Amino acid sequence: MSHYLSFHQGELDVQAMANESAIALRNGQVISSNILPGAMPFIAQQNMLVISSVDQKGLPWSSVLFGTPGFIQATNSGALLLDTSKMLINEHDPLWRNILHNAQVGILAIELSTRRRFRVNGRIQNISKEGQRADCEAASLTNQLFEITVQQAYPNCPKFIQRRNLKIEEDSYLEVLPKPLMGNELTPELIDVISQSDSFFVSSASLTKEKNEHNVDASHRGGFPGFIKVLGNRRLLIPDYQGNSMFNTLGNIHVYPKAGIIIVDFDNSRVLQLSGNANILWNQQDDTNHSSGTKRFWELSVEKWQETKIPKGVNWNFQDYSPHNPRELKVKELEVKGEIKSAIGANGRMALRVSQVTKKSKHINVYQLQAQEGTVLPAFEAGAHLPIEVTLDNGKIVMRHYSILSSSQENRFYEIAIQNEEQGRGGSKALHQQLRLSRVVNVLPPKNEFSLTPNNQHVVLIAGGIGITPILSMLRELVDKNASFEIHYTAKSEAELAFKKEVQALAGSKAHFYTSQGKQVKRLDLQYLIKNSHAHSHVYMCGPIRMISQVRELATEHNWPESHVHFESFGAASQPNDKAIEISLKKSNQVIMVDPNQTILDALMDKNISVPFDCKRGECGMCATTVLSGEADHRDVYLNKTEQAQQMCVCVSRAKGEKLTLDL
Ligand code: FES
Repeated sequence: MSHYLSFHQGELDVQAMANESAIALRNGQVISSNILPGAMPFIAQQNMLVISSVDQKGLPWSSVLFGTPGFIQATNSGALLLDTSKMLINEHDPLWRNILHNAQVGILAIELSTRRRFRVNGRIQNISKEGQRADCEAASLTNQLFEITVQQAYPNCPKFIQRRNLKIEEDSYLEVLPKPLMGNELTPELIDVISQSDSFFVSSASLTKEKNEHNVDASHRGGFPGFIKVLGNRRLLIPDYQGNSMFNTLGNIHVYPKAGIIIVDFDNSRVLQLSGNANILWNQQDDTNHSSGTKRFWELSVEKWQETKIPKGVNWNFQDYSPHNPRELKVKELEVKGEIKSAIGANGRMALRVSQVTKKSKHINVYQLQAQEGTVLPAFEAGAHLPIEVTLDNGKIVMRHYSILSSSQENRFYEIAIQNEEQGRGGSKALHQQLRLSRVVNVLPPKNEFSLTPNNQHVVLIAGGIGITPILSMLRELVDKNASFEIHYTAKSEAELAFKKEVQALAGSKAHFYTSQGKQVKRLDLQYLIKNSHAHSHVYMCGPIRMISQVRELATEHNWPESHVHFESFGAASQPNDKAIEISLKKSNQVIMVDPNQTILDALMDKNISVPFDCKRGECGMCATTVLSGEADHRDVYLNKTEQAQQMCVCVSRAKGEKLTLDL
């Protein structure tokens, strides 16, 4: 489907107001009028489904359905089947009444344990043999089949999803639930649930031109507990973090200012559905960085709420918070001589001055970037990176990300280390040339996708080469907290162990150093390390993809829980023996060449061939593209083995041979 057909005017307006139209146009290409074959098994294995609908009075509602895998499945690329005989039925859910008046629904198949999600919008109809219409009576909802005809379908990125394992015990299907509680004003108990929540699902709508009915979207929002602010007993304030730039929810609210949200109270077996009026707040003052730099929020004025119990046998096991969740600054961190003044400017950026440059090795410099007089920098946690604006040799201005080395207690400057990558994409080379003393650079507030999980378990830190930068910051924090840890730091040669002194000074006998080139050197034996570490430990590693993939495989082999393995890759760094690749593009009937020091994604963009992307590190899956011929050299950490048989992440992966054909 053309992306011009995929966005309505509200979405286009909001994309333009956020200055993100170009990204939306590019990312909008993932929207299809069919469910891709690769998504069908994913949908069929779900035991939870989010579904949005609109009631007779035009209020959107978000609902969560539970069932045994197979209760929702794609019967073909154009239709989903919802089978109530395999479901936990909640006859009080507004969904069943709403679809009698407005057949448009938005669906989100979301697997919290893997952070994968797939969205479908379409029309629902009851196709049970008896041809009965479903109503709100429990008896008439059992053994019903609903077909959803697909209008739009697309995958979403895994940002801001907290990992949880959902288990439904057999006897849950027999439990009779009490009638829901309803109201207009939020009680103190409900305010507490909302304030403590780390996730919710949102329903929003637009009006179709032809039929005067609502098109409906279902979406997810997540953050650390407290990210939803309750401003009164009917008003919620919600930050709008940087997402995929398509603005489906905000685009809907722009043209139809209403929304519904559902919060699952994972600990107390209940769901809270809220619906009411919504409005977008642009360019808000945000000293605590609540919006993570966007300065964009939306408000929900609650008209109605409904609290419903869910069976006790429906259990979630919390695994970890999303590494993307932004941290809000505490006000005391912004206090300087009684004044609160953040270094973040009106454009969401900070202008920092280079106050120190230290050469650490032949290729690595450490730069100290200082806040302007009278301002303080946003706080960060160990593992955070700083997005820096850099002008490349060809005049293009791009953002590059570097981990912060300095202590998270310091709020006057950040320290970053940059390795000059001769074979890289030009960012590090340009920064080595441009970052002279007193030079001012534009940066965005720190982002953290790789933070330490708060617990008392033993930590194994592993750093490969320049991957030491976030690990060093974590090491500082672990030493400060007197935590149990060990650190393993490897580089090609002794000279490239650029931060060996600092690591030694901080970790003492808990530090282990290795090199990989030359004879009779002490090499890091990952097999030995993982086999002999306790599976209750948490491993944090940063380094090349191969090292990360090896540790992940070994951890699985030795029964480590997935949630104990944390990593950050170098992303698209080229490897010395990378060769040029000839890429044939089937749909656009073009052939392009990818240089050895260029990513396939960059080569495609240079030729104005638009591919959706987000992380550019092989971690989000946005750029996954079908490979029609040739063998991919997979360097991502997103696709599983089955998916890699058909697709590749073009932001990092290359080819084993000299040619590939892609479905672009
Ligand atoms: S852009 Fe995230 S995997 Fe490629």
